[in-house]
Amino acid sequence: MRAVVIDKPGDSSVMNIVERPIPEADTDHSVMRIHAFGAHRYEVLTREGGSPSVKFPRVIGVEAVGEIYKVSDNSKLKVGQKVITMMGGFGREVDGSYQEYALVSDDNLYPVDYKGDWLTLAQYPENFYTALGSLKSLSLKYGQTLLIRGGTSAVGLATIQLAKTMGIKVTATTRREKMVQALLHCGADDVVIDCDNELKTDKDFDGIIDMVGTVTLTNSIMHLNQGGVVSLIGLLAGEWIVENFNPFTLAGKYLTCFDSTDVHQEWIDEMFKLIQKHDLKIPIARVFKLDDIREAHDYVMESRDIGQVIVDND
Ligand SMILES: NC(=O)c1ccc[n+]([C@@H]2O[C@H](COP(=O)([O-])OP(=O)(O)OC[C@H]3O[C@@H](n4cnc5c(N)ncnc54)[C@H](OP(=O)(O)O)[C@@H]3O)[C@@H](O)[C@H]2O)c1
Repeated sequence: MRAVVIDKPGDSSVMNIVERPIPEADTDHSVMRIHAFGAHRYEVLTREGGSPSVKFPRVIGVEAVGEIYKVSDNSKLKVGQKVITMMGGFGREVDGSYQEYALVSDDNLYPVDYKGDWLTLAQYPENFYTALGSLKSLSLKYGQTLLIRGGTSAVGLATIQLAKTMGIKVTATTRREKMVQALLHCGADDVVIDCDNELKTDKDFDGIIDMVGTVTLTNSIMHLNQGGVVSLIGLLAGEWIVENFNPFTLAGKYLTCFDSTDVHQEWIDEMFKLIQKHDLKIPIARVFKLDDIREAHDYVMESRDIGQVIVDND
């Protein structure tokens, strides 16, 4: 089988396709045949050496969709069963999705009831799971207002879709005027331009999901209604520390965050019920083959069309 192995951190040229034996199942790890996976900015960060838990050589990639190829001794799954995997150290502490087969802990294999094709399925795991978890972290009710800061990101687009099924009024942000129509087309009720980390609106919101990160946090808090919650879930601007944070800006407002590290099968089932019931989809920006993984990583980082970048292993 082919695997994309990174021996040392660096630019996209450090990703090399290597022939490896298909892994063997053991007592509690099964072998997954990977049909497709999403390629993400945060994996580019890992490739560059920005994920402290990752030791090289490593096959990166935090999520995959596919089927069970060989079961472990203790597995309750069956050969051929449709599964997804995400997080749980996949692509970080252990080899991840950038390969044709992966050895995956049974605890991290989630069966899914999904009828569509592999490429469509590959847009869902991490994007929609993070979107669902982020929405849960806000506890918004029907009719309340939500601002998605970083609306053109794949997670942002998934959040627009899920929030609309819950009757939430959704405003999404972008830094690019030319993305306004695309966001409205993806289901946002309104779009606000985010310019130099300031929202170009006087409106306030009941909940804000902030993916731009620490550099926009204070401005997000200023745009919360009393009793509102901001959930910090991403760091698109690449800054990890909040400079000059005045906690009293939070008076009567709340700050939380969501992290998809802990994955629950019940949430996955809930997510796929919503996806199938409402036919939820985000655009697929481009599809690459495993052989073109370097090009895929370079494309992920461009200022580009909205949507998920998918790698097709079939
Ligand atoms: N907490 C969790 O569990 C979790 C899970 C998954 C992802 N995440 C995080 O969620 C965020 C979104 O991930 P993704 O894969 O969906 O991203 P993505 O699709 O790669 O996001 C692309 C968008 O990011 C925006 N962007 C890029 N650089 C920016 C900057 N410096 N300032 C503001 N916006 C910028 C651009 O929007 P415009 O040019 O249109 O403004 C671009 O359209 C990331 O920070 C990721 O780490 C968190």
